[in-house]
Amino acid sequence: MSDAKVSTRRVPPDAAGIAEAARLLAAGGLVAFPTETVYGLGADATDARAVARLFAAKGRPSFNPLIAHVADVAAARRAGKLSPLADKLAAVFWPGPLTLVVPASDVVCELARAGLATVALRVPKHPVAQALLAAFGKPIAAPSANRSGHVSPTTADHVLADLEGRVDLVVDGGPTPLGLESTIVDLSGEAPRLLRPGGIPRADIERALGAKLAEAGAAVRAPGMLASHYATRARLRLNAQEVRPGEALLAFGPRRLAGADGATHMLDLSPRGDPLEAAANLFAHLRALDAAGTASIAVAPIPAEGLGEAINDRLRRAAAPR
Ligand code: TXA
Ligand code: MG
Repeated sequence: MSDAKVSTRRVPPDAAGIAEAARLLAAGGLVAFPTETVYGLGADATDARAVARLFAAKGRPSFNPLIAHVADVAAARRAGKLSPLADKLAAVFWPGPLTLVVPASDVVCELARAGLATVALRVPKHPVAQALLAAFGKPIAAPSANRSGHVSPTTADHVLADLEGRVDLVVDGGPTPLGLESTIVDLSGEAPRLLRPGGIPRADIERALGAKLAEAGAAVRAPGMLASHYATRARLRLNAQEVRPGEALLAFGPRRLAGADGATHMLDLSPRGDPLEAAANLFAHLRALDAAGTASIAVAPIPAEGLGEAINDRLRRAAAPR
């Protein structure tokens, strides 16, 4: 299911092509489009199902947080909290190849944020990206439009070579001007930090800030990998074969675990056993069961195929002893 084949169409970036791309995004589809840096693989950032499809198409073994592309500063303010420093950088570099990590509102879904309380925001400058954001009217989650572990695509041909049959549409806007991803600056902590060098040189950002950028430690550079971001208060018991007295149950699929009727609380990631649906529900269900205040959550086995690998990866991090 998560590897379902679709036929990928290529359209020019004219009014009809943009309208078709926006329509597909609204329907939960996947659309690759050019930005000034590289091609992005876009999905409705507010729709966890669409974002789960995106992770499946990329073939990522874990859920990395995604950049939410927004039309303008006003849209960025709805998706996150811009500090005075963020305002300053936005005023100088947006639209453009700068991504700002800021405290998140609940507009961008948790799966796109990989469960983090922060969100990465960028207003792209490319006219095709701008037109698509204007037509769609909501934030677009878009990692680079390549399969996991491959290099970022700078032409529609690169996108198709990697993702043919896995995305609905490619808007072909020709080669991307920069060919290098955006610079990522984290403004959610005490001091601004450079998470990824990219299209805007560090010195330009430091000049605009009037301050040096702190260097991100290895753990911070890969925020999706930090176990502590996923930790639940309740103990997670993975691959549970039964539900023990006093435990809540995070279920998956039609199989009923022994003792399920006695669970203090029960949520099902996907009653029909669909990994896409399970990925879309993962963070919200974990949070809800944890909030119920149970000491232990039994987690039903989840097959490792497709998105199951990323789901199991996240569950292991959440279960890691602290
Ligand atoms: O130029 C670009 O930035 C391109 C175009 C399509 O916009 N996008 C791109 O996305 O390079 P991607 O997914 O390949 O890289 C996104 C990076 C990842 O390294 C991720 O860890 C980081 O952004 N990121 C996203 N959300 C974050 C957050 N809340 N905190 C820290 N880092 C975050
Ligand atoms: Mg990438």
